[in-house]
Amino acid sequence: MALDSAFLDELRARTPIVPLIGRRVKLARSGRNWKGCCPFHGEKTPSFYVYDDHFHCFGCGAHGDAISFVMQSEGKGFPEAVEELASAAGLEVPKPDPRAREQAARARSLGDVLEAAQRVFARDLHEAGGRAGLDYLRRRGLTDATIASFGLGWASERRGYLTEALKEQAITPEMMAEAGLMRVDENGRAKGELFWGRVTFPIHDRRGELVSFGGRTLGDGQPKYLNGPETALFSKRRLLFGFDRARAALRAVRPKNAPPVEPVVVEGYMDVIALHQAGFVGAVAPLGTALTPEQMEMLWQVTPAPILCLDGDAAGRRAAVRAAETALPLLSAERGLRLCLLPEGEDPDSLLRGKGRDVMADVLAGAKPLADILFDLLSEGVPASPTPEQRATLRHRLVEAAGKIPDKALAGEYRSTLLDRFFKTYRSGGRPAGGRRRENGKTFVPAVDVDLGTRAERPFDGRRAGLQKLADIVMRFPAIASRVGDAWCRLDLPPDLSELREAILSFAEEADDTPESDLAARLMARLTEEGLRERAEVILREACNTRPRGDEAVFGDEAPEAQWWHFYAGVNRDGFEADIARDAEIWVAQGMDPQAWDRLKSRIEALHALRSMDVGSI
Ligand code: UTP
Ligand code: MN
Repeated sequence: MALDSAFLDELRARTPIVPLIGRRVKLARSGRNWKGCCPFHGEKTPSFYVYDDHFHCFGCGAHGDAISFVMQSEGKGFPEAVEELASAAGLEVPKPDPRAREQAARARSLGDVLEAAQRVFARDLHEAGGRAGLDYLRRRGLTDATIASFGLGWASERRGYLTEALKEQAITPEMMAEAGLMRVDENGRAKGELFWGRVTFPIHDRRGELVSFGGRTLGDGQPKYLNGPETALFSKRRLLFGFDRARAALRAVRPKNAPPVEPVVVEGYMDVIALHQAGFVGAVAPLGTALTPEQMEMLWQVTPAPILCLDGDAAGRRAAVRAAETALPLLSAERGLRLCLLPEGEDPDSLLRGKGRDVMADVLAGAKPLADILFDLLSEGVPASPTPEQRATLRHRLVEAAGKIPDKALAGEYRSTLLDRFFKTYRSGGRPAGGRRRENGKTFVPAVDVDLGTRAERPFDGRRAGLQKLADIVMRFPAIASRVGDAWCRLDLPPDLSELREAILSFAEEADDTPESDLAARLMARLTEEGLRERAEVILREACNTRPRGDEAVFGDEAPEAQWWHFYAGVNRDGFEADIARDAEIWVAQGMDPQAWDRLKSRIEALHALRSMDVGSI
């Protein structure tokens, strides 16, 4: 079976080897790696090691990657092992293709074309024509050893120069185009070299194979950097510049007291090179794009919590938010992210040259786990005394961010960390107890939790009582939350009740499969977690002490939802009637579906009861 190597690479990348082997062998951490008793020979003391992409037994010499592990441990052939792993990874094995062998041969020849170009570029940097390029790199502080080690080169200004040079080696413009060295017209015909008059940066894949180039202008010309196009060898979203070196450094045996290699993601080529030169050999960079999920997976294969080092300006913070958004759905206890922001106006390259490596080391040492920095990122721009709307929006954003983490336990941790910061930063208290506060032009009674002492003296506030009653009913019967939630959200609530509403509704959203009988208790547990227990209890107590309209008498054992609509109408009579009229119209227009009627009925009944009692707005 001739499978194309891109597919096998993808399969390996999507098959983390530690959990795969961990299902058969009890593994324990050993430094950066894992070890256990070898499954291939009987042993009592572990000599079987699992690295980021392969295993090795120092006892019996068994050795291989994820695919060979399945072959050896399950006695399967290569095609079956590939099939099994692909289906576990949700990939489809490409049909055996007679052309695959040919493609593989061609890929090799594309690599050869690039290598030939690289020899020309690297040579020319040291010829008269490349003088300006060499001077430029030296002026930027790169040593000749660094220039040689990264294979930096020079693409001549002369059009047709590279084509000429490669022609001697029987390389055609078509082959150059396929390798990503030419610009092409709409018909795919080569029309001139992509790189000319630029310093060239060879780009290698994770195994160190040359797959493309980047090129930088010396002056202020645009674009500053040019990257090769996507080719059979080069996929920008699956590649990190410097990853091959970082990975090699992580694996290499380090001198005893050398600091550990720290995988760090920075923004540019020059940053990676400057960092490597200064000894930060874990530095990598995406190629001018935001970090992709594929790139994060690569990083997690070598470290549980890579550091993202971003510019300290607004663009850097936006990049941090974007990286966080990409990372959240992929996080687990073993896969984290740390972030550090550079001083404003600096990138690692400029910082290293201006302030030296110790300052850079301090910046990296200050990297914070995502959970700690996420709050700052998400609350950016929220004023110190936010309006209720701003509070509600932020709270929603925080809860939503935590909700993106698939691992329930970890999501819970993020949620409590974020909300904890929320309450500490934006306490509803902090103003004179018992006083009234104007916010947004409306007068609110103070939040209940700071006002316990004066509760008895507080004048009865019918609207407040109605709003509390709404929360009270949903807390006792959370099953109705999904039906009343939309309407409830339309009410403008004082901050303490709005926080409670947000917490209750986000609980209800996630609690789909909780049996109805457990809902109220679980909700209370969640509110406790979020520091809202006391507030909730006050509301439950007050709702039962101060029944403004004797709801038991009115409702008897009427369904909680109808009760809820009754109080809703009390605080929002006009909105309530308008909603019903609109929803009734929609119901008729959409064919009077019986299930939709069910949702409408309770409200119409509540409205009917209200009208017949002629209870006005509270
Ligand atoms: P920067 O503009 O921050 O570059 O772009 P830099 O690395 O600091 O470059 P110097 O110091 O001016 O040489 C960061 C990265 O974004 C990509 C490149 O990968 C660059 O390294 N980029 C930037 C492009 O792809 N195209 C551009 O025009 C600019
Ligand atoms: Mn720079």
